[in-house]
Amino acid sequence: MTFKLILGAFAVIVLYHLINRGRSLHRNLTAAKSSGLPVVITPWNVYSVFWLASYIVWLPLLRKLPASCRGTWLEVLDPEWAYRIGYKIFEDVGSDVFLVVSPSSIGSFVADAEVMTQITSRRGDFPKPLEMYRRLEIYGKSLVSSEGAAWRMHRKLTAPSFGEKNNELVFHESLHHAQSLLNLWTGPGGRGNRTIKDPAADAMRFALYVISRAGFDVRVAWPHEEKDQEGQLEASKQKDSMFVASTPPPGYEMNYREALSCLLENIMWTQMAPPEYLTKSPIKVHRDVGKAVIEWGKYMDELYEQKKKEVASGQSAEGMDLFGALIRGSEVLNEETTEIEKSDILGNAFVIMLAGHETTANALHFALLLLALNWKSQVRLQEDLDKVLAGKPISEWTYEEDVPKLFSSMPTAVMNETLRVLQPVINIPKSTAPGNPQKINMNGQSYIMPGGTHISLCCAVHKNPKYWPEEPNLFRPERWLTDSKFPNSSIDIKPDDADLHAPPGADISGNLFKPVKGSYIPFSEGSRSCIGKRFAQVEIVTALAVIFRTYSVELAVDEYATDAEVERLEKGGKERREIWQKAADRAEYLLRDTMSSIITLQLRGVTIPIRVVRRGEERFAFG
Ligand SMILES: *[C@@H]1O[C@H](CO)[C@@H](O)[C@H](O)[C@H]1NC(C)=O
Ligand SMILES: *[C@@H]1O[C@H](CO)[C@@H](O)[C@H](O)[C@H]1NC(C)=O
Ligand SMILES: *[C@@H]1O[C@H](CO)[C@@H](O)[C@H](O)[C@H]1NC(C)=O
Repeated sequence: MTFKLILGAFAVIVLYHLINRGRSLHRNLTAAKSSGLPVVITPWNVYSVFWLASYIVWLPLLRKLPASCRGTWLEVLDPEWAYRIGYKIFEDVGSDVFLVVSPSSIGSFVADAEVMTQITSRRGDFPKPLEMYRRLEIYGKSLVSSEGAAWRMHRKLTAPSFGEKNNELVFHESLHHAQSLLNLWTGPGGRGNRTIKDPAADAMRFALYVISRAGFDVRVAWPHEEKDQEGQLEASKQKDSMFVASTPPPGYEMNYREALSCLLENIMWTQMAPPEYLTKSPIKVHRDVGKAVIEWGKYMDELYEQKKKEVASGQSAEGMDLFGALIRGSEVLNEETTEIEKSDILGNAFVIMLAGHETTANALHFALLLLALNWKSQVRLQEDLDKVLAGKPISEWTYEEDVPKLFSSMPTAVMNETLRVLQPVINIPKSTAPGNPQKINMNGQSYIMPGGTHISLCCAVHKNPKYWPEEPNLFRPERWLTDSKFPNSSIDIKPDDADLHAPPGADISGNLFKPVKGSYIPFSEGSRSCIGKRFAQVEIVTALAVIFRTYSVELAVDEYATDAEVERLEKGGKERREIWQKAADRAEYLLRDTMSSIITLQLRGVTIPIRVVRRGEERFAFG
């Protein structure tokens, strides 16, 4: 009897739940259908925490369904589809904008340049979905996790740190650290006969050190150069030492480098619980990241206090010094009676560190791999470098003279193309507010984006043949070297805020290809585009120039043949090529099918080993 009652109650609850879901789905569908856009129905929200955490388990099972049941609905349940399948889904749906509806959500994917531009320029109509950015608020609110008035405040606070003067410092820091990276990779004597097992990790280090110095006035030494640095340490300013040392300073358990790397690599766990709880977890990685959050916070605290004193005493650091600038900025703003808290400064410091580190490192890493897979482009890059730098030693490169040259030749083409084929953030999130539908225009027709829609500005726009007619899926940096074949974009909507233009940095890439406005969005667009865009561009292009001026990058083949075996095979011959092809097939597969996004797109749990060899000493120079 009791059992029957319980069962009955359970059935009622399930039924109630199902009816509710049915109702919600119906409501969402009605809104979606009236938009005029194609609609794909999914049984649940792809971006729900549960699905994101466990889709790896369910998706392969669902893919076993009979072919007649599968379809676009199943493809879009893969959160990485935009990177893996790209533009094909839009072709299947038959529109460059479509909606995805589930009982609990309405989503939209956009791969149309015109619509892209409307969304990025109408900031008030299409705000960022802030709930997605909460995870970045470990230390406080920031430029990327705010909207409206709060965003303006953060924007004013951070903007002074990203001017042209600072880009010059970025250039010099990049030169310095790119040479260290090259020394690490090519080994003593620069022979380059060693295999670099995890180039991604080294690229991360490179980017981390550049941002540490350029953003925080903290010099970090490379482990392989630490010995000579230690000697200089005594003489260097006291304040640097605690950040440079490889042994943790008193009161710390991790050195600065470890704390930051550990935190960034495991940031997803910080969403589960506050650090105090994480440190008590039975799982080691939780304890480590909990500790890293606390320790990096402590480092930042100390730096903050030091900087505050410096600013108060009128001292100014050379170069960018983002922290100093933030503090100085906050005081200026205080007079305007704006409330700025220390947490705002730390919050911004953290996202700048995060954003300025992973994305740049990935871009450099991917550029190296794509060049290793495309020998002809690598040769073209080296020829261009010979031409624009004319054999000038690195110590004589200057920002005014050489950056414009690099920005209008092959190094930039390589960077722009890398960011086109492998955009760091595959879906840039936007939204419409609940109850606030928005009109959009596409191809002379108007549509209604329903209220409460989660919009993804999709990286598939980079593969849309309408804007990228020639082999859109292939890495072809040369496509950037031609003059624009497209007429000027017909729409040029003014930014909605005259005083809040997109980040500074005039476009000096004069003769390079100019894509249709809205068809190329690695840094997003409009007033919410990436504030560190120029910072990143300078850094990546500089690193490419330093490396490829005298070296070539090849795939390592250690898995398939020893050095002696390779040596015995004829240079350029068929057998050597077969060995290389094995490495190339593996690399292509890993890059095409296996990467995933935790904020940014990366190889995870696997590496693609490379060698950096002297020009002229390549073992596998194949087209
Ligand atoms: C690289 O070359 C140097 C100098 O010829 C040699 O001493 C070293 O053993 C080589 N390293 C490897 C990994 O082959
Ligand atoms: C594109 O725009 C520029 C500046 O607005 C103008 O000088 C140029 O003639 C235009 N080109 C075409 C093909 O319309
Ligand atoms: C390509 O890179 C250069 C150099 O950073 C930049 O100036 C240019 O705007 C980029 N092209 C596009 C379309 O973003």
